[in-house]
Amino acid sequence: MTNGKITKEKAKLPLEDLNREEAPEASRVGAPSENVLRPRKLQDYIGQAAAKGKLTVFMEAARGRGETLDHVLLSGPPGLGKTTLAHIVAEEMGGRLHLAPGPSLEKSVDLLAILTNLQPGDVLFIDEIHRLGRAIEETLYPAMEDFQIQLVLGKEVGAQAVTVPLPRFTLVGATTQSGRLQAPFRDRFGISLNLDFYDLGEMKAILRRSAKLLGISLEEEQIEAVASRSRGTPRIANRLLARVRDVLEVKRSRGAGGVGAQAVHEALDFLDIDKVGLQPLDRRYLQILCENFRGGPAGVEALAASLSEDRSTLEETVEPYLLKEGFLLRTPKGRIATDKVYSHLGLRAPEATREDPLLF
Ligand code: ADE
Repeated sequence: MTNGKITKEKAKLPLEDLNREEAPEASRVGAPSENVLRPRKLQDYIGQAAAKGKLTVFMEAARGRGETLDHVLLSGPPGLGKTTLAHIVAEEMGGRLHLAPGPSLEKSVDLLAILTNLQPGDVLFIDEIHRLGRAIEETLYPAMEDFQIQLVLGKEVGAQAVTVPLPRFTLVGATTQSGRLQAPFRDRFGISLNLDFYDLGEMKAILRRSAKLLGISLEEEQIEAVASRSRGTPRIANRLLARVRDVLEVKRSRGAGGVGAQAVHEALDFLDIDKVGLQPLDRRYLQILCENFRGGPAGVEALAASLSEDRSTLEETVEPYLLKEGFLLRTPKGRIATDKVYSHLGLRAPEATREDPLLF
């Protein structure tokens, strides 16, 4: 494609090709190292046991019947490996991967150009699929169900409806907000997998693997230090790993230490990542909720306005981890800070706890 909205790549990217000068096409999506670190086979994909187990069975069954895999919907917070799973599906099913970010698909013709370019067995990955417009979504229905699209050629009395057959392909849709998909759209995905935050052991395993691939030598307790502040999110862990490496290298070259777990913790403090992995925006969110909204309940729109952030950034990237870690409650009346927030941020809690929505 030449419109820059979609990248197509052969599913294979040799890991030993770390020092290549020219980045592969697909590296336009995400940080350069993100593609290098992506596992290419399901067996190298760490964690997400439930999703992995199901995918293994469904892919084996489809391969056994010589069919393409049914359409897959991947949901979960950002950075947990949804794109990586799409790469793996393409690799393991022997198809090419076409990447299309949902927000870039504005008109049905954008989608038509992509669909008519597919080969049998290809995988079309649409990220942020909940952001697709209604018209595009409806163009996708017959493509997903019957592997055909309807085009109207000509205008007014001369208009003619034409059915264009498509090759059998697999649509992999990724969303951070599966609740925002229309039910008829969601139902057209035969396979629906949910990804959740990784536990500490899994994060350590991912970091060990990344450090090895990038030639970064870290002690076990240094790995643990990075893992413990990575919000259960591989993308964050890999980014912190790179920045911690920078800090440690500079410290060492200046003869200022840079060894042991303590040096890693200091590097993470320097990077504004706190002891539980909260980033500046997470802490500002909680601080504003406690100080400006007296701990809540506060509406997400009001919080977004106070933070000068998009509501979707808060809902999709900030809140999921705060909810999971018990810093936040979501009630019909709005967001409420838990007691844990006050102790974590060193703020004085209001007289009566606002955690119990029955009190307010
Ligand atoms: N890199 C990002 N996510 C990963 C995962 N789940 N397993 C291995 N490496 C990863």
